[in-house]
Amino acid sequence: METSTLLYLIFSLFVVLFLRISHLSVEAQQTYSDRQLNCYNNINYMNGYFCNSVQLSCEAYLSFRSNFPYNSPATIGLLLGSEPSLIAEANDISNYGTIPTDTQILIPVNCSCSGPYYQYNTSYKLSGRDETYFTVANNTYQGLTTCQAMMAQNSYGDRNLTVGLNLVVPLRCACPTSNQAAAGIEYLLTYMITWGDSVSSIAELFGVEPQSILDANQLSEESLIFPFTPILIPLKGRPSTIQRVRRPVFASVDMGAASETSIFCIGA
Ligand SMILES: *[C@@H]1O[C@H](CO)[C@@H](O)[C@H](O)[C@H]1NC(C)=O
Ligand SMILES: *[C@@H]1O[C@H](CO)[C@@H](O)[C@H](O)[C@H]1NC(C)=O
Ligand SMILES: *[C@@H]1O[C@H](CO)[C@@H](O)[C@H](O)[C@H]1NC(C)=O
Ligand SMILES: *[C@@H]1O[C@H](CO)[C@@H](O)[C@H](O)[C@H]1NC(C)=O
Repeated sequence: METSTLLYLIFSLFVVLFLRISHLSVEAQQTYSDRQLNCYNNINYMNGYFCNSVQLSCEAYLSFRSNFPYNSPATIGLLLGSEPSLIAEANDISNYGTIPTDTQILIPVNCSCSGPYYQYNTSYKLSGRDETYFTVANNTYQGLTTCQAMMAQNSYGDRNLTVGLNLVVPLRCACPTSNQAAAGIEYLLTYMITWGDSVSSIAELFGVEPQSILDANQLSEESLIFPFTPILIPLKGRPSTIQRVRRPVFASVDMGAASETSIFCIGA
């Protein structure tokens, strides 16, 4: 074989290897996280979704459940650091007035890389003596952040929290990977799982394929999902308002089917 041919072959091999490696680094999707209860577990994916896309920032969506006092575009916007008018527009509701309790609200945010993680920053002023990183993350922010992420980004020890302190709250969000973008995915929505949800019921809620949700979160069909944990929903366009599918409670056949496909679990 001629030297030039050999060199060409070696060169091609390197190009192929390089392309594979660089492709892999942007291909990996996110890991579903259900370890939010132990604030000291040091699992890196509890700090946020990895900044693994070619996009360093993007528009993204979060889901939030209205509950007093966070039951209007103004108060939810204040808590989540989002424009009330954009919240009203995304949910097709009025800028003013209250939202019925337990309505699922879409929150548009500008998501960006902060170190190794995608996040959307907001801040929260402690107002109660019994607030901890865990209660702020789980109860106030409904799991949109974790105590691990908050502790990593605030300098106060968890026993030194006092009323009036302003805490950085990194909310979980993510941008589509190159694979997702190639498949037509434009946005990722961080959906907070609630009682009775299953991957198939969530897929139905957003009109997407269950498999695309499994892939986006590195889950398999056998995986369990838990309330108060986030799951990413890949969307091919802007989400329409979230309409809870109401199952008739009197239809026993329906109930049977529902409990078969739904996962009711707590703890791990
Ligand atoms: C995202 O940033 C752009 C440019 O600063 C701004 O116009 C837009 O309103 C922001 N979107 C949200 C949801 O905050
Ligand atoms: C997390 O918050 C929810 C309410 O948002 C609450 O029902 C649940 O008990 C909390 N979990 C823990 C372990 O406190
Ligand atoms: C978000 O906050 C972190 C510190 O917690 C900071 O490093 C980062 O630059 C902030 N991101 C934006 C977009 O402001
Ligand atoms: C908590 O506060 C005490 C007393 O002000 C201080 O000595 C300690 O270093 C603080 N710990 C952390 C982790 O901030």
